[in-house]
Amino acid sequence: MASVISSPTRAKPPAISQTHLLIDGKWVLPTDGGTLDTVNPATGATIATVFTAGKNDVDLAVKAARRALESGPWSRMDAADRGVLLFKLADLVEKHREELAALESLNCGKTIVDSRGDMTGVVNTLRYYGGWADKIEGRTVPVRGNFLSYTLRQPVGVVGQIIPWNFPLLMLAWKWGPALACGNTVILKPAEQTPLTALRLGELALEAGFPAGVVNIVNGLGEITGDALVRHTDVDKIAFTGHVETAKIIQKAAADTLKRTTFELGGKSPNVIFADADLDQAVEGAFHAIYFHCGQCCTAGSRLFVQKKIHKEFVERLAARAKSRRVGDPLDASTEQGPQVSQEQLEKILHYVNLGTKEGASLAAGGQRKGSEGYFVEPTIFDNVTDSMTIAKDEIFGPVVSVLPFEGFDEVVDRANKTFYGLAAGVWTKDIDKAHNYARAVKAGTIWVNCYHVVDTTTPFGGFKMSGQGRENGESALEHYTETKTVTVKLG
Ligand code: NAI
Ligand code: MG
Repeated sequence: MASVISSPTRAKPPAISQTHLLIDGKWVLPTDGGTLDTVNPATGATIATVFTAGKNDVDLAVKAARRALESGPWSRMDAADRGVLLFKLADLVEKHREELAALESLNCGKTIVDSRGDMTGVVNTLRYYGGWADKIEGRTVPVRGNFLSYTLRQPVGVVGQIIPWNFPLLMLAWKWGPALACGNTVILKPAEQTPLTALRLGELALEAGFPAGVVNIVNGLGEITGDALVRHTDVDKIAFTGHVETAKIIQKAAADTLKRTTFELGGKSPNVIFADADLDQAVEGAFHAIYFHCGQCCTAGSRLFVQKKIHKEFVERLAARAKSRRVGDPLDASTEQGPQVSQEQLEKILHYVNLGTKEGASLAAGGQRKGSEGYFVEPTIFDNVTDSMTIAKDEIFGPVVSVLPFEGFDEVVDRANKTFYGLAAGVWTKDIDKAHNYARAVKAGTIWVNCYHVVDTTTPFGGFKMSGQGRENGESALEHYTETKTVTVKLG
């Protein structure tokens, strides 16, 4: 599929400029690391081999980040100037938007249209937090007695940031933006599947003028490079996005040094369609909720509750839409769905599809791998799914939706909440009472009413229950990147 002949709408395949480790402002070879092949998921072909960091390399990165934090120009820089650096980086991303988008699509398989959207999100995030840099304020507190008490908001320190492969550069921006606005120094570990855009951003960060050691990038396996960061005694905080099981491992490993941790994890988000919804919009919305980026979104609307009155018609319309989806070359601007990110993810999805059939759900669309080259999966719909089926409980992270018919409001809220997850939820109705009552009752960090996947850098994002700890985006993220210090002065 990737061998599609170049058309005017096809993005130009980008050059790969960087494969080294970024430590202390320099691109270096590992001292005790190795290499990692990264593939184009549309073909399965290796597109680059990047260097990985061993324990000693991670230690060198931590030492550089510590120096930059305590004694380098960063430690003395005015907050406003930290903001200016973030603005400069945003400008450079904007300037190189098309190249970065193409590199993202090549490496993670998302469509070029979606990658361009991600780059807009990256620019917005860096600018938003650039604006915050000189507005992170303490308070004066009216304590008892003749004292002046005030609070200072200081950086947490050296922060390890471990990110996944589904939104590689956007996750970088969500992590770097608030961390750098608050004056921390960072060591980023990108996902093993998608190291390339982060490396390019490292180049742009140096061009923007971030001092040596402020941002470091170490590629490598989670169990080696990630683990070394998590266990390092001189790392103050770990910010992680990924799988729930990985978060549990990280939380246990981080306990030895009582590191601060924030987690943004998975979901099994309910998307509820009431019979009084605008059906045209709801079909489109439910479609987008599950199939956006091949279902590889932590917020994917993977439990689709449809009120019985409209259930049959709704599934028919959704299935027709799914069958006409253009699946193929992610660099082609007319493609609606690219490949899954890896062979591992492809196999995981096909395993769940098999399980769905075995457990008695009925296949209303898809259900097969598409083609034999690359990791493409047909948009898949399981109808008449029950709450106890595995496909209704586990995060599949692919283009597979479970349709669950329901009768009434209380019942559906109860069923929506019967999950360990609590990241997002959608509701489609014209009744404002129903919409707001649903928004209150469903335990999730984000509720979408008559829309889905609307995420803006200005609003808090994160999970209830096992979907996470802490919030990213908005002012909320700043809480997790500062320590609050109380200063009390005796007045004579
Ligand atoms: P993962 O949680 O293993 O990987 C995410 C990041 O964690 C990567 O950078 C990885 O190298 C790192 N990591 C892995 N093990 C680690 C360890 N022991 N210590 C430190 N860092 C470690 O996720 P994976 O294996 O790529 O995907 C598995 C499933 O996770 C997916 O099928 C999906 O269900 C879920 N997932 C959820 C994401 C989200 O946005 N919430 C993103 C990616 C995956
Ligand atoms: Mg893993």
